Amino acid sequence: MRIALTVNGESLEAEVWEGESLLYALREHMGLPGSKNACEQGECGSCSVLLDGVLVCACLVLAVQADGHEIVTVEGLGSDDALHPVQEAFAMTGAVQCGFCTPGLIVATVDLLARVPDPTDDQIREALSGNLCRCTGYAKIFDAVRMAAGS
Ligand code: FES
Ligand code: FES
Repeated sequence: MRIALTVNGESLEAEVWEGESLLYALREHMGLPGSKNACEQGECGSCSVLLDGVLVCACLVLAVQADGHEIVTVEGLGSDDALHPVQEAFAMTGAVQCGFCTPGLIVATVDLLARVPDPTDDQIREALSGNLCRCTGYAKIFDAVRMAAGS
């Protein structure tokens, strides 16, 4: 079936099958591979996007459920000329190693700071608890969130 949605401020249409995930549609039909597919089971958060402003795992949302809705992916943050402050903070603090978790963590951090501009460590821990990273040990990710909160 054909779906029409707004992604990063742009109206897009795609032909999808009924069981296809939003993540698959973004990556394979809409030219937006920033959201990563690591588990496809809602466990890792690497596919995190905002759906009508709510943080979701795109692998758990059917593409047809996104029909008529507004999506923001990691590609929709920042601009061609400048990184989003959260992206900048992740780069500056060395919170990126293999980078596979990074898009999801950045989207989740943007969501957190929109709700809680100056989060405590416990609030950061809670907000990012759905985003797994196998590389960094999380310390530099916390540094990145704290830096972005202060920027
Ligand atoms: S790929 Fe969606 S939560 Fe892991
Ligand atoms: S940087 Fe490799 S999984 Fe997080």
